[in-house]
Amino acid sequence: MAAFRTTKHILIHALEHGYAVGAFNITNLESIQAAIMAAKTEQAPIILQTSEKAIGYAGLGQMVAMAREETKRTKVPVALHLDHGSGFAAAKACIGAGYSSVMIDASSLPFPDNVALTRRVSAYAHTKGISTEAELGRLVGVEDKVKVSERDAFMADPAKCREFVRRTRCDALAPAIGNVHGLYYGTPKLDFDRLREIRQKVTVPLVLHGASDLPASDIRKCVRDGIQKINIDTDIRIAFTEAVHSFFRRFPRVSHTRGSYDMRTILNLGREAMTATIRKKMRMFGASGKAKSATK
Ligand code: G3H
Ligand code: ZN
Repeated sequence: MAAFRTTKHILIHALEHGYAVGAFNITNLESIQAAIMAAKTEQAPIILQTSEKAIGYAGLGQMVAMAREETKRTKVPVALHLDHGSGFAAAKACIGAGYSSVMIDASSLPFPDNVALTRRVSAYAHTKGISTEAELGRLVGVEDKVKVSERDAFMADPAKCREFVRRTRCDALAPAIGNVHGLYYGTPKLDFDRLREIRQKVTVPLVLHGASDLPASDIRKCVRDGIQKINIDTDIRIAFTEAVHSFFRRFPRVSHTRGSYDMRTILNLGREAMTATIRKKMRMFGASGKAKSATK
């Protein structure tokens, strides 16, 4: 059986038991295998998530088929989730293809438009038994050329968070609290007071985007203060890339040594490095060992 769990099912367990589930961005066979291997070894529930770019790279049907095959080989709860879905059509296509969860990211739109689109996607997804995630506030970084003094304006307003969840009926909310995608420029400054206030105002699970490159202490504070889903993409890419670099330092050119041109050797090094990174994150999030009780 390879039934994906909904993120709602997985995250409510995390909410009730005080930990966070890792949502790891997958792009190909090796990253899917690494994520599932990590989940099995750690006995942790897991969310596999794909961006639309990743779907463009691998193909929607191929992505679902690969994730499904790997999921068949484990009893840990696995969800397949669309990350940063750009519109209704993308969400509908993923639901139709077998995803168990979709994010609609209308956070760049004015509040009423974000509400309207998120509500439409949620209403549709719920008729199919699929859960939803939405975003409020904007994730900004130095690359967005936003001054530190302006950063507050982009963070999620706690009162608006409550109104947003009530009106959209999304199953999980990703509020901007000073987090950014990719590597942080300078020391990350997450607004934990804001996070605690949001946690008090909404009952749905909360999601932390841009969690790569954050110190473990910040991650633990986020879990303590009410985050249940933690998104990791960049740190997985870095693990893969560094492992492959080390191969090419050893074999800078193709030679008579067969291993110097064996794709499997190269990709397996990357796969092992991704597995180690994902395992480390699961332990940091408090998710290791939670698979069995999350299955019930
Ligand atoms: O949606 C995916 C993420 O928020 C991942 O962010 O690349 O900083 O880990 P990251
Ligand atoms: Zn994100």
